[in-house]
Amino acid sequence: MCGIVGYVGNKNAQDFLISGLKRLEYRGYDSAGIVTLDDAGEATLLRAKGKIVNLEEKLAENKREDKIGIGHTRWATHGEPSETNAHPHQAGDIYLVHNGIIENYKELKEHLTEHEFKSQTDSEVLAALVESFYGGGEYSLVDAVVQALKLVKGTYGIAVISRLNPHEIVVARSGSPLVIGVGHDETLIASDASALVGHTKQAIYLNDGEVALVTSHSVEIKTLNAEPVSAKVEEIETNLAAIQKGGYEHFLLKEIMEQPESLRETLRGRVNATEGTVRLGGPGLTEAQLRKIKHLVIVGCGTAYHAGLMAGYYIEQFTPEITIETVIASEYRYRNAYIPKDSVALIVSQSGETADTLACLREIKKQGVPTIGIVNAIGSTIAREVDGGTYVHVGPEISVASTKAFTSQMIAMVMFGLTIAQAKGVKPSVLRPYVQEIAKLPEVVKETLASVSAEVREVAAKYAEYDHAIYLGRDTAYPAAMEGALKLKEISYVDANAYAFGELKHGPLALVDDRFFEVALLPSGELYDKAVSNVQEVLARGGHILAITNVDRFDLPVENVVKITTELKIFAPVIMNLVMQLLAYYVTVAKGYNVDQPRNLAKSVTVE
Ligand code: M6R
Repeated sequence: MCGIVGYVGNKNAQDFLISGLKRLEYRGYDSAGIVTLDDAGEATLLRAKGKIVNLEEKLAENKREDKIGIGHTRWATHGEPSETNAHPHQAGDIYLVHNGIIENYKELKEHLTEHEFKSQTDSEVLAALVESFYGGGEYSLVDAVVQALKLVKGTYGIAVISRLNPHEIVVARSGSPLVIGVGHDETLIASDASALVGHTKQAIYLNDGEVALVTSHSVEIKTLNAEPVSAKVEEIETNLAAIQKGGYEHFLLKEIMEQPESLRETLRGRVNATEGTVRLGGPGLTEAQLRKIKHLVIVGCGTAYHAGLMAGYYIEQFTPEITIETVIASEYRYRNAYIPKDSVALIVSQSGETADTLACLREIKKQGVPTIGIVNAIGSTIAREVDGGTYVHVGPEISVASTKAFTSQMIAMVMFGLTIAQAKGVKPSVLRPYVQEIAKLPEVVKETLASVSAEVREVAAKYAEYDHAIYLGRDTAYPAAMEGALKLKEISYVDANAYAFGELKHGPLALVDDRFFEVALLPSGELYDKAVSNVQEVLARGGHILAITNVDRFDLPVENVVKITTELKIFAPVIMNLVMQLLAYYVTVAKGYNVDQPRNLAKSVTVE
């Protein structure tokens, strides 16, 4: 959701702001803007609707040598995507960029009668509020920001500059991330460390309720209550290659293809295939605590939720006396849900910044339930606020559609389940097949991606004609089907929904006609024959079925079949998910849509 950048130093600010915004474009891409100040405080404000390239066109005619500035890429919340609603917003001498939502903006606006509002945004209200406390420079910028923020309800990450002091930036956060990059004779600001990669490796992650006064040589942090905070400088681990396309046409394809390596990173040092055991250090629970767990709450949104659902199906297969509830964070945060004693909550998030997931984490912590993060982004808010955690270590995921994170989140949660089962004394003979298949996954994923890609591409060309799809699965293949449908719908705009095979005749079967195609997941196992009967029901009604199966003897007269390896039995649905990722990718390419930045969406959903 929206991206913020800022620069103060001895280099060209516009250059950093534009390159930083490009790196953050995946976070919001409906409009963008930058403002820079020269030494005398003269401002150059450039804003454009649409992608950063539109802003670059304006920049070409407005090149400056200014050494300080702030910038923003927007994902609209209040007010349509337009140049006027794009940030930075100006109020008097002040320019401000904002991520988040000011909930009481209407109430605040009523009192800001001296400012002539130009946009429909809540962010301009914040700019005007800061200006009202600034008093034309009578008070310091940082004090004006603090006074303004004390009146604000909602979430924010902000960067503010003033024409009256073109050597400092004030930044603050509450619920929306902000990172300060410490360089040589320069300080850089970003809402995501990826914008800083290649400029500095040293970063300070601001905490909620903190405000920082930043110059080219200093960073002074305090709380809104004026308590000084000593800055903790941390190392940025990401490298340039990880945030570039590396020869692929789209980040999505790169990230799908990276899964052998990303899975290897998830498993590294955690799996002993010979002994059939797993060991996770991060959760920080003792054997006795693990033994006592009777209930797991798994919380996430979108793909993270699906990963949690699928992991839940697996964990209950091998863990005795445990109940598992996988919940959608945006719902759970407002439910009056009772969490039984001896529960542990798994908080699942690629970005570690998703507002609803973070809110659930905070609610659950209030109930005294231990929280374990299943997070990718190192140093993210969720990663820092959970009691313990397992990083999935898949590296930056840039494409809005989540792929490699799903696979690793799911497996990381199954490994957590295995550690519970081990502690509860489940026989090694029960657990070993799971561990052994997990250990094989990176290699099998590699072979599968190499062997099925061309075939899926061909199949996708046939289904790119359709606007409706039904994904079907049973047991662990059901959440896999849900994830497959989400992937297709979010990037190709095909109206794709998933159903449990057994639910078909309770309603969805009525949909089957020539406008729809059906993706049927048919893994081998106890429920295979039942799923085959369901496929027959669809065939009998003229369904256009694409089957994905690991069953050699599969001979149903469906339109298309993608056969996957028979090497994995338990985790065959994970492999089927790769096929569905590729299907979504190739259908979208065939339809000619923007694969990495689908309309209306943004990568990290830091607003409610
Ligand atoms: O960063 P998170 O894992 O918390 O994000 C959760 C969802 O917003 C995310 O998975 C979303 O559904 C993806 N666009 C799906 O591909």
